[in-house]
Amino acid sequence: MSSVSNAGNYLLGDRLVNRMGYGAMQLAGPNAFGPPKDSTAAIAVLREALASGVNHIDTSDYYGPYLTNRLIREALHPYAEDLTIVTKVGAVRGSDGSWNPALSPAELTQAVHDNLLNLKLDVLDVVNFRAWGNNLSPSEESIEESFTTLAELQAQGLIRHLGVSNVTASQIKQAQGIANIVCVQNHYNLSHRTDETLISELGQQGIAYVPFFPLGGFTPLQSQVLSNVATRMEASPLCVALAWLLQRAPNILLIPGTSSVAHLRENFTASELVITPDMLAELEALG
Ligand SMILES: NC(=O)c1ccc[n+]([C@@H]2O[C@H](COP(=O)([O-])OP(=O)(O)OC[C@H]3O[C@@H](n4cnc5c(N)ncnc54)[C@H](OP(=O)(O)O)[C@@H]3O)[C@@H](O)[C@H]2O)c1
Repeated sequence: MSSVSNAGNYLLGDRLVNRMGYGAMQLAGPNAFGPPKDSTAAIAVLREALASGVNHIDTSDYYGPYLTNRLIREALHPYAEDLTIVTKVGAVRGSDGSWNPALSPAELTQAVHDNLLNLKLDVLDVVNFRAWGNNLSPSEESIEESFTTLAELQAQGLIRHLGVSNVTASQIKQAQGIANIVCVQNHYNLSHRTDETLISELGQQGIAYVPFFPLGGFTPLQSQVLSNVATRMEASPLCVALAWLLQRAPNILLIPGTSSVAHLRENFTASELVITPDMLAELEALG
């Protein structure tokens, strides 16, 4: 419990979450498609995360599809009072595993109802609208119609808080003109730093920034500079990458993904690491 609590807390709307959370995407099969190769192990990862003090899980019904949320339900329902499950909508999977946009009011409404069913919840804690963009980076298309649909579902009492994902600063403003947002989930890590300014601007508004691919995603970060710093800190390079995010800004919440209890435990030790200013300066070179 101690290592995760060292990360501190942050408010997602009215939900206080530990800044060290867990991203559930890796629990499904390869490319987040199909069942896990070992569902007992996947359930063990979820239970270990909570036993370690995690109270923020990031998921989607398009992981699996549906299977990841059903695993979360099987492992953790009835949910602990302080657990915040954040899901996202805006895509569906093809039968070949492809990722396809699902942005119409009817598709988004269906997705919210599917998440409620698969997670066995009456209200979803946080729903991120995942803009389509250019795959893993945003583009400037209007999100007005889609986000308005989610705001209406929120007004109906099906969603507690809203967020946005894969978005630009102007799309965030567009969303805020429709409803309050509590978090932004974009691609960001030690070597991918498009959102430097945005993170601080969100922090000033009390909005959480939740980087996806905090470890580099499907191809975890590798760098000699990172390895050198990690050796001196007697830590693993990926833990240093997580510790760097925790130190980068207080409104950054972590959702590193793993399918392994051993990796999960290792990642949580990032909460105990302190990167000294000289080592921080070395890591800046990676951006
Ligand atoms: N909004 C979006 O568009 C979007 C996109 C992508 C992801 N996400 C969210 O962000 C979360 C995190 O992203 P992610 O899981 O894709 O990427 P990630 O956290 O950057 O990295 C996950 C990868 O790192 C490996 N890994 C984790 N811990 C490790 C360790 N200690 N040692 C060695 N390898 C380790 C995992 O493999 P093992 O399973 O073998 O540990 C997996 O291959 C996801 O779970 C999902 O909830 C959102």
